[in-house]
Amino acid sequence: MRVGFYQFNPEFGRVHQNVTRVIDALQDVRADIIVLPELPFTGYLFRDRRELALLAEEIPCSETIGALATLCRRKDFFIVTGFAEKAGDRLFNSAVLVGPGGVLHVYRKLHLFNTEKECFDPGDTPLEAVTVRDARVGMMVCYDWRFPEVARVLTLKGAQLICQPANLVLPWCQQAMLTRSLENNVFSVTANRHGTERRPHGELTFTGQSQIADPRGNRLCRAPKDTVALCIEDIDIAQADEKKMTPQNDLLTDRRPEFYGELVKTRQENRKETPA
Ligand code: ACM
Repeated sequence: MRVGFYQFNPEFGRVHQNVTRVIDALQDVRADIIVLPELPFTGYLFRDRRELALLAEEIPCSETIGALATLCRRKDFFIVTGFAEKAGDRLFNSAVLVGPGGVLHVYRKLHLFNTEKECFDPGDTPLEAVTVRDARVGMMVCYDWRFPEVARVLTLKGAQLICQPANLVLPWCQQAMLTRSLENNVFSVTANRHGTERRPHGELTFTGQSQIADPRGNRLCRAPKDTVALCIEDIDIAQADEKKMTPQNDLLTDRRPEFYGELVKTRQENRKETPA
């Protein structure tokens, strides 16, 4: 199976131009799954919720998704992309899996980062793994990396490959995703942005260094910090099924969930039980 990412620097608000750029970049690619960054068509640094609402699209009638589906049909591959999703009056920072037949799955970011909380609604979709050709694919978005539960739940749902659209500004995620891959014995593809987004109300510089990691926590490829990069790797997806560490140790069946109860309590329940 051939998986990869396209790292680039979208221009804020230029949706059509950003879509065209992606389509041009993927024209000669031979792959099964390509991962794009978080919010790669709208840009990231919204002034407020109103500005986001003007740029977000409803998935069923989205021209952007339509153009990606046409590309997938022509190239016979699948794309996992970040997407500013409008659903009625709600707005989500989503990841969408698109293939030759259209949209296969939508994941809405569970853990919103910093000022995203002022614009987006928190995600309300369960973490799922979806079959794409020979692989079971899970999606998470950027800051979800900080919560190891996300990658673990995707693994428990059968994911062999985790696709992570990202707009990373802090320096730790790429290293942490090697650990997420190792601790779950799964492949991961992190597609990040590079460059600086300048808006009248502020600016952000993204860290690039998109990567593909294997189930042993090895980096199979890494993009530079500050340039456009397209990377495709051949992977043996069956490596993600080898959960046995020794003849007597299996990563999933060795777990002791009866001792992990704290993980599924609400924040209020945890606080109540913590001695002052
Ligand atoms: C992030 O979640 N965009 C850092």
